[in-house]
Amino acid sequence: MSDEKSTPAVCRGATTRAQDVAVDVLFVPVFQDDDRLEDLPDLDDASSGEVGRARGRGEFRGRPFELFLTPLAGRGWKAKRVALVGAGLRRDADAERLRRVAAACAYTAQLRAVDSLAVLIRRGVDLALAARATADGLCAAEFDGGSYKRPEDRANRPALQLTIVAPGADAGVLSASVNRGRVIGDAVNFARSLANEPPNVLTPREFAARVAAAATEAGLGVDVLDEVRIRDLKMALLLGVSQGSAEPPRLVVLRHEPKGAAATPVLGLVGKGVTFDTGGISIKPADGMDRMKDDMSGGAAVAAAMRALAALGSPHRVVAVIPMTENMPGGTAIRPGDVLTGASGKTVEIINTDAEGRLILGDALWYAQTLGATHLVDVATLTGACTIALGKSVSGLFGSSSSWVDTVHAAATRAGDRVWPLPIDGEYRELLRSEIADMVNSTGRPAGAITAACFLREFVDDRPWAHLDIAGTAWQDDRKPYQQKGPTGVAVRTLVELGLSNLG
Ligand code: BES
Ligand code: MN
Ligand code: ZN
Repeated sequence: MSDEKSTPAVCRGATTRAQDVAVDVLFVPVFQDDDRLEDLPDLDDASSGEVGRARGRGEFRGRPFELFLTPLAGRGWKAKRVALVGAGLRRDADAERLRRVAAACAYTAQLRAVDSLAVLIRRGVDLALAARATADGLCAAEFDGGSYKRPEDRANRPALQLTIVAPGADAGVLSASVNRGRVIGDAVNFARSLANEPPNVLTPREFAARVAAAATEAGLGVDVLDEVRIRDLKMALLLGVSQGSAEPPRLVVLRHEPKGAAATPVLGLVGKGVTFDTGGISIKPADGMDRMKDDMSGGAAVAAAMRALAALGSPHRVVAVIPMTENMPGGTAIRPGDVLTGASGKTVEIINTDAEGRLILGDALWYAQTLGATHLVDVATLTGACTIALGKSVSGLFGSSSSWVDTVHAAATRAGDRVWPLPIDGEYRELLRSEIADMVNSTGRPAGAITAACFLREFVDDRPWAHLDIAGTAWQDDRKPYQQKGPTGVAVRTLVELGLSNLG
């Protein structure tokens, strides 16, 4: 980032009554339709009747992210103001919704330059889930997408005192859940800040240096392979993509090896780290090419998840492999028609140099297996076709075996990342046939996300492997109450949830 470190927010849990939290704004999530605020019988009175009036008039109905802010007149309440925030239907109040509600609270507080805020965990809501999701969501506003602006033009700083109030809750469960949510939210922000960096700043070398520094700080094992070592490993797919660039590639390996962990399973996380994708000789159109700075979002998600897994003490061995390169159209760049031999020994006929992600992942998946990974997940901004198939709020999920795909799907759902499975079996493989080599790197438009996944599968033996295509979900083009424009940190939560769960 371009500037000084900001003071980190303090986030704590409190088991006191809502009346007793002395903050600038107390946020109260309110469910749609049937919420009688039974756990807050005197709130209407403390607001001099404003809460009841707003609800009676239909000004505030509890629809998702609706907001109603009003002063409190004391009467036993220590908060200066209360904000009702719509939480939508009770049955929709999963981790994702509760996290987004908290994020909307944090952005609202930021807009109003609030110093201290509290969010209430309502009675009847699952404490651990809600506390974790709320702590996570409150981190959202701490990411500043405008880090290269003059200070006076930047968004108001986020609130620094955060309290999550769960009246009468078990203090141990509350603080453990708040801590876990906070670690995850911070990891998501780390991934977002990497993806937001300009490509002239975040070159492959700089990306590797930042990931290595963060990983070392977290107590992870770190190995940064330079172009010489990459060549020694015969990773001609990664080298091929990087050869049109003045910037050398890097391959970062991170290890989490908890004391006393069994030799297996070993979770292997692989993330695409293209710091800028011009398309190479098969160059992309100028419109929107600037966004291709985030083509390393998968790699950033993997690095961030590793940091969180170390901090939260995952019981499993985890190894991460992140190939980092630019995809540039230099005089030394690979051409359509070239044939490359990857580290696994398989040959690839290059049809389109813009299908570079699958090339570097092919070498990285192979390497993760040689390092002992028994269960693989890769994350990549891989295909525009995935965005066409699933849109901008659901990531594509592919893989084999089906039970591992189900495990990853379940972890994503619990974590509040939306994913949906697409098929890779059957006749798709035939589309990869090459006349000259083992396979082509690019097929026609039909099933583009699937054929990309089929390509990756060629580099994995029979061990469980899942692939997340985050091309549509890594970057949001519209501002939402719970999300600013820009990088989302998608997949970090899924990987953390997976690394903390039973690998099945
Ligand atoms: N990084 C892109 C995919 C992408 C596109 C991510 C838009 C986010 C937004 C990837 O390297 C790419 O260029 N894929 C090509 C593949 C094609 C040449 C087979 C694509 O999707 O067009
Ligand atoms: Mn590309
Ligand atoms: Zn790409």
